[in-house]
Amino acid sequence: PGRRLGRATAALARHEVTGGLQACDRCPWAAQATQAVDGEGPLQARLMLVGEQPGDEEDLAGRPFVGPAGRLLDTLLAEAGLDRAALRLTNAVRHFKFELRGRRRIHKTPSQADALACAGWLDDEIAQVRPAAVVALGATAWRALLPQAPALTQARGRWWRREDGLAVMPTFHPAALLRMPPDQAAAARAQVVADLARAAAGPG
Ligand code: URA
Repeated sequence: PGRRLGRATAALARHEVTGGLQACDRCPWAAQATQAVDGEGPLQARLMLVGEQPGDEEDLAGRPFVGPAGRLLDTLLAEAGLDRAALRLTNAVRHFKFELRGRRRIHKTPSQADALACAGWLDDEIAQVRPAAVVALGATAWRALLPQAPALTQARGRWWRREDGLAVMPTFHPAALLRMPPDQAAAARAQVVADLARAAAGPG
């Protein structure tokens, strides 16, 4: 019990947030977002996928990966032979960062400071789920998980070990595929499916 109390106290000290995730205001985007979006999926999941941040639809629904990028992710997972329901899906940043243009909420990429402000939530989720491996979807997640590693384009598709022993494989974010010109997107999409299939097999 002493150790457990110690861990809980350490977690509290890290976040300094009474009231949990929904009360967190450590980034400036908390004030304009509808809600914080937590991870989803079984706490026993062997594989965790970490995205960037909730988008417009995720912010409204309070669930990760339910918008256009999430729908593409579902297709890619199915092609790689992965069952979304068996995975833990989460994000490096838990509030939607956007800029208003008229009535449209335009996604803004989180800064390193945003990811740092949110890091405690991801650390805690990893500690709680203790996945055998993690896939980083895109550069924000990759940087948040393994800040010292080479850039995503060089590191993609391979397993990297963190100092704590966690195996992490970076791949492109599905939203990046949606933004690419069609000739590039086809090849990148195939790479993501191959990476996910390799991730499904585990780090070995
Ligand atoms: N993009 C992300 O990175 N995460 C989501 O939850 C949705 C879109």
